[in-house]
Amino acid sequence: MTDPDPIVEAVFDAVAATAPEIRDALPGRRVESGTENPSGETVLAGDMYADELLAEALGAVDGVGSFVSEERPEAVDVGGAVGEGAYAVAIDPLDGSSNLRSNNAMGTVVGIYDAPLPASGRTLVAAGYVLYGPITTMVVADERGVREEVVERDGDGDDPGVTRSVVDDDLTLPDQPTVYGFGGRVPDWPDAFREYAREIENELKLRYGGAMVGDVNQVVTYGGVFAYPALVDAPDGKLRLSFEANPIAYIVESMGGASSDGSGSILDVEPDGLHDRVPLHVGNEELVDRLESALDE
Ligand code: AHG
Ligand code: MN
Ligand code: MN
Repeated sequence: MTDPDPIVEAVFDAVAATAPEIRDALPGRRVESGTENPSGETVLAGDMYADELLAEALGAVDGVGSFVSEERPEAVDVGGAVGEGAYAVAIDPLDGSSNLRSNNAMGTVVGIYDAPLPASGRTLVAAGYVLYGPITTMVVADERGVREEVVERDGDGDDPGVTRSVVDDDLTLPDQPTVYGFGGRVPDWPDAFREYAREIENELKLRYGGAMVGDVNQVVTYGGVFAYPALVDAPDGKLRLSFEANPIAYIVESMGGASSDGSGSILDVEPDGLHDRVPLHVGNEELVDRLESALDE
């Protein structure tokens, strides 16, 4: 078994340390901040708070050279030459933030790249997501495999720490797919995707909650397929490559699953910009293969 990468471990320690504070801050931050992010989306107070907390935590990690956030137009240089010993970290501070008002699952997504951003997913050395569900969990994938951890405060003094307890040290995708979740509206799906969706709807159970991390965690747990596909009027779909699609693709492929932008692995997509969007499909390999065949007809 290879030794853990100390910088990767320090990044996930920092992300885990912010999780209870982000979770505790959510009740009071369900309102709009009055600003838009680089993707042109309304930013909630919760998005801003998570971004600021994570920026501070990641900036303090030795070995993180720069970070990119959904909420910031440019990469933030925090010292250290990326690609020459330092890593670049891409974060979605609060994924599924529209679920804040409806009190449904949300999370934080992290990609750790060994190259300046924007970069191909092939330069990822690790990726993970925090899921704010009934309990706070963190899924972490690196060269050693994929693990699920429960993240809890340890104690309730003035400055309680956080414990990361591994509850599954070898997450693999169930062979038998059970669930699916497809984003966007049916009338906006291209015909080929709609036909694929019709087949899947007759085979699997619908699990779509409007937050990628929650919906992907359904697939990670029960097997199946998640997609936010290309739409007729948005051929690049909705999800961003650097801090949503690439990290999720890295995690699912590390568990024995597959990812696709519609024609090949998400990890092979060469980005132009930090906030490039890409159609995302992840899950059991046979379901992703069927998707690519359906789109290729
Ligand atoms: P974010 O809140 O970080 O912008 O991400 C929201 C994304 C993703 O979490 C989810 O899959 C998708 O938006 C949901 O989009 P719809 O509301 O169109 O279903
Ligand atoms: Mn998101
Ligand atoms: Mn977000």
